[in-house]
Amino acid sequence: MSTQDELKKAAAAAAIEFTMSRVCKSSIIGIGTGSTANFFIDLLAECHHNFLGTVASSHISEDRLRTNGIKVLDPNDISELRVYVDGADEINSDLELIKGGGGALTREKIICAMAQEFLCIADNSKCVKSLGKFPLPVEVIPIARNKVARELIRLGANPKWRREFITDNGNEIIDAHGLWPIESPKALEAEINQISGVVTNGIFAKNSPNTVLISSPNQITTHVRQENISKLLL
Ligand code: A5P
Repeated sequence: MSTQDELKKAAAAAAIEFTMSRVCKSSIIGIGTGSTANFFIDLLAECHHNFLGTVASSHISEDRLRTNGIKVLDPNDISELRVYVDGADEINSDLELIKGGGGALTREKIICAMAQEFLCIADNSKCVKSLGKFPLPVEVIPIARNKVARELIRLGANPKWRREFITDNGNEIIDAHGLWPIESPKALEAEINQISGVVTNGIFAKNSPNTVLISSPNQITTHVRQENISKLLL
């Protein structure tokens, strides 16, 4: 029987192979946040001579990269990343995600949007039919917390303030419970982002991954976004 950590590590190992097949000596890799991303960082240390450096989606990942002897660059100093690698809290069959359990959603979204390719890695417990059982993280400007919470209630959510948690950007997180099943992740992502006071929310549907590697006991399955497949067929 594989433990969840063993499965996360297996997904991270597969991501190393995927990433190394795409990078060259001048490439920069975007690095996510969370326990699966941590396994990826630790394994990446062994091949750091194959690429130029990384940009990190959180202070925690940045510290771990540096501790592993991997160069970390400022996103403002670069225009593009070859690939962004990160975990997820939920993944549906359209490869849309909920992220932000660790509170790094905004930087994750920024770095992800800078990448040519987004590779998501996860163990099979993250796969769901519909998003929304995992409470949706929403990063808010502190003075807007209660105002945003009221608007989330209007959208059918039960918002809970993540007390004593401050993001790397100095903001707060509201976890929106009770949204399951999210019928249209793209529409809800856009609607919540329109609320003034919201920095961003943890639905990754507009910037969904190009590829998802899912680890289950004894196997890794590769899921490619439909759009990529149609591009390949053109
Ligand atoms: C961090 O803010 C999140 O988006 C993580 O990527 C997500 O919560 C997955 O974390 P684990 O790899 O720890 O499950």
